[in-house]
Amino acid sequence: MASSGSRVVDVHTHMYPPAYVQLLESRQTIPLIRRFAGAKDPRYIILPAEAESLEKISQAGEAATATTQLPGRPVTSHYSSLQQKIHFMDTHKIDISVISLANPWLDFVAEAEAAETARSVNREFESMCLEHPGRLFFFATLPLGVPAEELLAAIGFVRGLRHCRGVILGTSGLGQGLDDKRLIPVFKALAKNGLMIFLHPHYGLPSEVWGPRATEEYGHVLSLALGFPLETTIAVARMYLAGVFDEVPDLKMLLAHSGGTLPFLAGRIESCIVHDGHLVREGKVGPNRRTVWQVLKEQIYLDAVVYSEVGLKAAIDASGVDRLMFGTDHPFFPPLTSDEQGEWESMTWNKAAVEKALGEGSQGTLAVMGGNAIEVLRLKEDA
Ligand code: URA
Ligand code: ZN
Repeated sequence: MASSGSRVVDVHTHMYPPAYVQLLESRQTIPLIRRFAGAKDPRYIILPAEAESLEKISQAGEAATATTQLPGRPVTSHYSSLQQKIHFMDTHKIDISVISLANPWLDFVAEAEAAETARSVNREFESMCLEHPGRLFFFATLPLGVPAEELLAAIGFVRGLRHCRGVILGTSGLGQGLDDKRLIPVFKALAKNGLMIFLHPHYGLPSEVWGPRATEEYGHVLSLALGFPLETTIAVARMYLAGVFDEVPDLKMLLAHSGGTLPFLAGRIESCIVHDGHLVREGKVGPNRRTVWQVLKEQIYLDAVVYSEVGLKAAIDASGVDRLMFGTDHPFFPPLTSDEQGEWESMTWNKAAVEKALGEGSQGTLAVMGGNAIEVLRLKEDA
């Protein structure tokens, strides 16, 4: 188990740098940022599920904005101010943050502009890290829509940025998921360059899966609490079934939200594989097959953003206490009834979950709160 003292590291914490905010402000379709009459802050409207309410409010006209629930979330300084990020870290005694661009990254950027946009976003992240030596590292953003050689060149570029420790990736890949064979050279290049993938959801599940409802929409709860984790689970299950982890055995992946539901469902996935006549006949269930459990312990790391010791214990059981890393998901989920400049539940709940699962001040708690990230992501090397 890693022992790097009692330093606290946040591996799941996002920034939308100012240039990216401007890009979203210039857009007419989601993802976008829009101002509404009478609302103090502009709104970030990024989730596919929010497109419907944007459409409704646009049809109803400006007058409706006073009475209707506005789509998306308010854009406060927490989204793009580096000073605010440092304030959040200081308030919560976070020593180091591994920042990443938040969803939907560059998924919507046209191919012609993607490579240059990625470069400028990644440069911006590197310069933020340089402003606060020893306190910030980052997961870079890849321009997924570009031709293979350009994508490999982008990996070469971010590998040369001193504070880059990996890349943040959504589940769509090149448009057909992460089990797409065309991604194998990308995964190999990432593995070869020691860059971890931080896998993060964005698309959730199609709204039909929530079933017909007479009136209630339940805010963002269904898509964020259930759609996001399922999206991650499905993406990794598909990679596993396609043999990606065997084909790229050095690939390391950090899964957001403690792996979605993967720790809880790994046993069921195993049972379904072993009892699948089609897979058995194809010889895909032989004695040398690495099980999902093995892959979880050999190639996968999980963040500890699960808000309860119940889920956290499952994650620890599945991957091992040396593979869990603390995170907050800042700037999402701000406190709604107390001062945003004060304490956030995303810190206190996730920290309490670690302490309840592993014991306050224990070796395990120190490892999950920071020691693991310092070792695995080489955070002592700020040179
Ligand atoms: N909502 C998002 O869109 N992204 C996150 O990372 C968390 C909540
Ligand atoms: Zn996140």
